[in-house]
Amino acid sequence: MELIYTGKTKNVYRLEDGNYLLKFKDDVTGEDGVFDPGSNVVGLTIEGAGKAELRLTKYFFEILKEQGIPTHYVEADIDNVTMTVKPATLFGKGLEIICRYRAVGSFFRRYGDYCEEGQPLDAFVEVTLKDDAREDPPITEDALDMLGILTHEEYAVLKELTRKIALIIKTELAKKDIELYDIKFEFGRVGPDRQITLIDEISGGNMRAFKDGRHIQPLELEKLILD
Ligand SMILES: Nc1ncnc2c1ncn2[C@@H]1O[C@H](COP(=O)(O)OP(=O)(O)OP(=O)(O)O)[C@@H](O)[C@H]1O
Ligand SMILES: [Mg+2]
Repeated sequence: MELIYTGKTKNVYRLEDGNYLLKFKDDVTGEDGVFDPGSNVVGLTIEGAGKAELRLTKYFFEILKEQGIPTHYVEADIDNVTMTVKPATLFGKGLEIICRYRAVGSFFRRYGDYCEEGQPLDAFVEVTLKDDAREDPPITEDALDMLGILTHEEYAVLKELTRKIALIIKTELAKKDIELYDIKFEFGRVGPDRQITLIDEISGGNMRAFKDGRHIQPLELEKLILD
């Protein structure tokens, strides 16, 4: 098993059969010990966080599979805190696709002159480059096409998939009276036909979720959803 990438919250290995193995760590993004899904640095380490994120990821990816969404998920090994996935080719050096139902986080920081904090948004989709040094800059559809990262046709597929998946997750959370404010996904091209496919993870670390107006921390989200 060959280590091919050391990420902030996961390590990536190549398996002998060509699949990848994601090893979830207990590291969580944020600053000064406070969790922030939009952050690009590891701000805290919480014992059991990796396992909780994996359990949620497994749960959501299995629901998505039932609903016919293309994902990289193969299987999860909860005891070893690993997930086997199909290898994907990233768009450029990687994109983050965010779906927003409320004006919080970087959206409110950027556009706060034109909206109230927490104002409802209609499943607004936005794309950022995964580029830590440039603090994940937002990028438009035209720029993605012009720079050869995504064609307009691929952008349309990505946007529709993003809204579909976000709604599935939002609906799942709503069953536990939890409201999804925003969520971030990664996609890549998988298989010989290079199908646009959901990759990476879906866990507390990738979303903002609130219950009774209170922000739910990643570990608590896992308990509320899975217990
Ligand atoms: N199926 C896949 N094929 C190829 N790469 C993948 C696949 N699934 C996830 N990845 C990549 O594996 C890495 C996992 O590492 P990790 O989640 O720690 O993220 P990171 O790159 O450090 O940054 P961030 O925290 O901003 O997501 C990510 O770079 C992600 O793009
Ligand atoms: Mg990540």
